[in-house]
Amino acid sequence: QTRTRALLRVDGEDHELDLDHRTSLLDALREHLGLTGSKKGCDRGQCGACTVLLDGRRVNSCLLLAVAVQGREVTTVEGLADGERLHPVQEAFVACDALQCGYCTPGQVVSAVAVQQEARDGWPSAVTEDLTATEVLLDDVEVRERMAGNLCRCGAYTGIVPAVLGSLR
Ligand code: FES
Repeated sequence: QTRTRALLRVDGEDHELDLDHRTSLLDALREHLGLTGSKKGCDRGQCGACTVLLDGRRVNSCLLLAVAVQGREVTTVEGLADGERLHPVQEAFVACDALQCGYCTPGQVVSAVAVQQEARDGWPSAVTEDLTATEVLLDDVEVRERMAGNLCRCGAYTGIVPAVLGSLR
């Protein structure tokens, strides 16, 4: 084991950690910072349960080394609410009953927050791959495509898709 010191900025707070240099960002969040909202589903970038924002863009935290994100802004599901007030995406998930067992929900919510930002930024359609499009029609198909990296084994997509769509309007 090689220990190393890592300076992480998570949800607006700075943390200095003493880590094995091979520690993933996900393990650093869960095991060193006690931020257990991000879930470990597959630990290999296939399920999206560990999704966090890195400088506002979504990433699978299981695939990144904690030491590699020093100097970047990490936002976890714990950092989305404003005190007691839920983030609008979280409210939409509650309103649409967009979960069953709930294990994938934090990753789904973080990913949906990123989709909101992508919609605001006018990113090209994920469906048509028309890279010249500036205005994306955010419909059911587009949302499903953009959320494709987040799997729900309960199959609660009938709630998740409307929640994401609803939070965009
Ligand atoms: Fe990271 Fe599944 S735990 S993608």
